[in-house]
This record gives sequence, structure tokens and C-alpha cells, in this order.
Amino acid sequence: MTAEPGTRVLKADADAIKAAARCLAAGGLVAFPTETVYGLGADAGNGEAIARLYAAKGRPAFNPLIAHAADAAAARRLGLFDGAAEALAEAFWPGPLTLVVPKRPSCGVADLALAGLDSVGLRVPAHPVAHALLTAFGGPVVAPSANRSGHVSPTSAAHVLADLRGRIDMVLDGGAADVGVESTIVGCLGEPTLLRPGGVPREAIEHVLGRPLAVAPTPDAEAPLAPGMLSSHYAPKARLRLNAEAPQAGEALLAFGPTPPHAAVMLNLSPDGNLIEAAANLFSHLRALDASGASHVAVMMIPHEGLGEAINDRLVRAAAPKS
Ligand code: TXA
Ligand code: MG
Repeated sequence: MTAEPGTRVLKADADAIKAAARCLAAGGLVAFPTETVYGLGADAGNGEAIARLYAAKGRPAFNPLIAHAADAAAARRLGLFDGAAEALAEAFWPGPLTLVVPKRPSCGVADLALAGLDSVGLRVPAHPVAHALLTAFGGPVVAPSANRSGHVSPTSAAHVLADLRGRIDMVLDGGAADVGVESTIVGCLGEPTLLRPGGVPREAIEHVLGRPLAVAPTPDAEAPLAPGMLSSHYAPKARLRLNAEAPQAGEALLAFGPTPPHAAVMLNLSPDGNLIEAAANLFSHLRALDASGASHVAVMMIPHEGLGEAINDRLVRAAAPKS
């Protein structure tokens, strides 16, 4: 399909969802809300659409995409679930969890989307717009976060447009993504392994499994386990200084909790000290600090529990020297 000159932005009502499903079926690229972040969707079986998706994002082609399904039954048609995968799907789907499982030979997801792997990352999102779109489309939709590669993930339609306007066909505007960090990725290719911390806390997963998750071997740029874990992946423009007690001269402050130190430019992830609220605000606050022109940002300490593990993971990446 010839890309339209512009990107259509539609409020996500029933008609818009039907139009989005038609657009996907015609090989188009549609950004849509999930409860974690906005995804940039393409028909999982259409290699050309997926090639355009990588180009729109500017993403290295070795980075595999998550296949999104309307429900667990549809996901099971794409991959092979062992006991741990079944238990996690039962406990957390629909929701912010991605399971990496062996792909079925019949799965139909284009090789390009899987970057040549024999496994497939599967997710059943809980957001009503995502669910309605997947149901209307009637098949799996591959969707990375709807940002240019190396930028922070979008939690609103405006963020998507800031990165991708004119490069994609449509944005379904369904309001703010409320979890705010991407899905937790668990590899179920043997010992269940945490590949990326995210919207489901590690503790909740370990509680269901009844044992600790294995730790992913250090990601390797040649053969990454979850290549999105490359250390400079989540990159705002500003330099971040983590675990700061107070801002130094010239630094803006990304605060957390009720009693932040004074700063001329400050955004607070959660004045109540609530990690769920902090996760939801993380990427939009990083973008807003970039937009304010801040070149250096002091970030207060975030407790390393619950969603704090995912928040700290993203902050460490955001602070990594840019390659
Ligand atoms: O919350 C989310 O997961 C969002 C929404 C849109 O669903 N998606 C998302 O996609 O964050 P993306 O592409 O930005 O990150 C997906 C991560 C990447 O690090 C990718 O390498 C990894 O999942 N991944 C996908 N399939 C994999 C596989 N078979 N094995 C290992 N890692 C995989
Ligand atoms: Mg991403």
C-alpha cells in the first residue's frame, strides 16, 4: 500500500478501530495504545509491512518483535507453552507480560519479525483498545514500542506523533498508557528467565512459579537474548545522574516522594512515593525534561522493589553513555 503523505490520528472509537484493522490488513502501520506503552502494529504475517515498520522506527533488524494476540487461545496457536508458560499466562494475561516460547512451525509470524530466532515473544494486552483492534483484525499483530529506535517509549498519542508523524499510516488515540513501562519479558525456553523487568513485578511472577526466576546471561550485542536490552536503548537527550540526593548547579531534578530538595526545574515521578504512579510518569517526565531544554538531570533514588526494579532498569539505560 502506498503510504499516505500524512499520518491519520483517530480517537479510538468503534469506527476508528474498524478502520485501523482494515489498515493493518492492507499492510499499513498503526500505532495503538496498550496498558504498558503505545505499540506500532503491523500484520505479523506480512514481511513487507514489517520491513516498513523497522524502517519507520530506524530499528536494527536483528531486534525481534513481540507478537500480540487477542487472547491466550490465539497466543497458544503461535507458540508452545510448557508448564511455567501456562501458569504465567493463566495468572497474568491479559496484562503487561510477554512470554518467549518456542514458535510453532505453523505460527505464520514472518521470519523478519522474529529476526531469525526459533522462539517467539507473545503478549495478550489488557487495554480495551488493543483488545478490540486484535479482535477486529483477527490475527497476530507485531508491535514494538511506537518510538524511533533509541528514544524513550511513548505513553501517549502525542509522544507517538512527535517521533513518527509522516512515517506511519495511523495513530489510534486511546489516552495515556497507564502502566507506563513496557511488559515484563520472561523466557520460557527451559528454566524460566527474566529477560526484561517490566509492568509485572518479578516478585509476582516468582510467587506464581513458586521459585526464583533465572537471571539472563549478560546480553551480548552479537547475539542478544532480548536485544532491546542493549545498554543505551532508552535514551533521553539529557545526561542523567542517578541516586542523587540534591541537584547540583545547572541540573534539573527528576524527583520521587513527598519531600524533594529544591530545584529550579523539577518534575516529580510521584509526590506520594507510589511506584505505580512513578512508572506511569517515567517516560513522559523524561521527555518533558528534554523539552524544557535541561541538559543535565539529577534523578532521586527509586526504591528497588515492585515496579521500582523496572523503573531503575530504564533509568540505568537512560543514563548510559550514548554510543
Ligand atoms: O510493553 C511492551 O512490551 C510493548 C508493547 C507495545 O507491547 N512492546 C515493546 O516492544 O516494548 P519492543 O520491541 O520495544 O521490545 C520488545 C523486546 C525487545 O527487547 C526484543 O528484543 C525482545 O522483546 N524480544 C522479542 N522477541 C524475542 C525473542 N523471541 N527472544 C528474545 N527477546 C525477544
Ligand atoms: Mg522499545
